[in-house]
Amino acid sequence: MAKNKSFPDALNDQIANEFSAAMQYIGAAVHYDAETLPRLASFFYRQAREERSHAMMMVQYLLDVDEQVRIPNIKGQQTSYDDDVAPVRMALEQEKRVGEEIYALFELAREVKDYRAEQFLQWFVKEQVEEVALMQDLLNVVERSRDNLLLVEDFIAREAPGEGGGADAPPEAGGG
Ligand SMILES: [Fe+2]
Ligand SMILES: [Fe+2]
Repeated sequence: MAKNKSFPDALNDQIANEFSAAMQYIGAAVHYDAETLPRLASFFYRQAREERSHAMMMVQYLLDVDEQVRIPNIKGQQTSYDDDVAPVRMALEQEKRVGEEIYALFELAREVKDYRAEQFLQWFVKEQVEEVALMQDLLNVVERSRDNLLLVEDFIAREAPGEGGGADAPPEAGGG
């Protein structure tokens, strides 16, 4: 991230990243839906909704501090993969990257002594730790069961990974 960027500019960029993560996860969900793996599909549809929520929390924050909000253009995303492990691998990479982006935002907030921004970002720091761990767990299970993904379907049905939590999340524009 460019060091001379203002915090609202940087957060607007992150809004675009969160929306594009939502679209990427819809793409992964569509892949699994087409393969008749409904639990994997609904796992990714839900992750997509979460990413949209993250974007809308950032929109609400910018509204609250009276800054401009930019809504990005939609970029096309992949909806089919050669291999059924690939979407989960993509998701893990994606979550790690977002983690780095959140830390860079946090650093910028500190640098410019924007205490409101720093406080707002606290929840996202914790959320990224959870999301990386969640995708790593799912990748382990999918890799172990790559020859029989119905075992992954059972795992998701039984363990409901990624469900619940979020009680202390920042408010979303439009009320979620
Ligand atoms: Fe996110
Ligand atoms: Fe995420």
